[in-house]
Amino acid sequence: MAVGIFDSGLGGLTVLDAVAKRLPDLPLVYMGDSAHAPYGVRTPDDIYDLTTKSTQRLFDAGCDLVILACNTASAAALRRMQEGWIPEGKRVLGVFVPLIEALTERQWGDNSPPREVKTKHVALFATPATVSSRAFQRELAFRAIGVDVEAQACGGVVDAIEDGDMILAEALVRSHVDALKRKMPEPDAAVLGCTHYPLMAAAFQAALGPQVKVFSQAELVAESLADYLERRPAMTGPGTTSAFLTTGDPDRVSSRATQFLRRQITFEAA
Ligand code: DGL
Repeated sequence: MAVGIFDSGLGGLTVLDAVAKRLPDLPLVYMGDSAHAPYGVRTPDDIYDLTTKSTQRLFDAGCDLVILACNTASAAALRRMQEGWIPEGKRVLGVFVPLIEALTERQWGDNSPPREVKTKHVALFATPATVSSRAFQRELAFRAIGVDVEAQACGGVVDAIEDGDMILAEALVRSHVDALKRKMPEPDAAVLGCTHYPLMAAAFQAALGPQVKVFSQAELVAESLADYLERRPAMTGPGTTSAFLTTGDPDRVSSRATQFLRRQITFEAA
């Protein structure tokens, strides 16, 4: 039994950490494509090719279910993968839906028509590829009406985090929040639409102010995975051991991951 968790780099570790806390007995295989991060500045075709390659690696490691713990891959590649690439008996899930369900106060699988919700002004922070895909707005429109979304493409933040330069990442977060506030001075909620950003959650909250509710994905995805596996326990697949795989330099990636999660993480070459 193992579930695969994929990200372009280290951001998906925020999701892995929450899943490991929620489902401590579930073996998890993490795959980070650090050699090709960031994905957020790549074309949809490129993101699709890289995402399918990494997902296949997770299937080969004994995972029947793979979570794309990467908004950019979920936005640019998931629909195309679901339309014809995913082999029989395998499942690939993205990270948008649990977030939008939380924002619109819906229960898992509630497919009723879109309705008015409490939150009216939403600031979306995400990578350039996620913002230009408009996937978030599309998924939101299936569930809610009357929500004004202002998106801010946060160039540079993923690179800074991958390089471990948290001072630069923090400065970039402040300047992206300022840019957003010029377009939407008073958001009621902010969505951290990139799995790297929970590592900067305090900087986002400080720049936005305490009145803005900040939604981040890790716990929401973990809860929704627990729910999914309760309904479909067979989807845990044949793998039995946890592992951390990377296309980058395993020593470098291990040391960053250990710093982020504050526990020893040892990556091996994918
Ligand atoms: N963690 C990825 C996401 O959620 C970052 C994408 C990137 O590599 O730019 O979008």
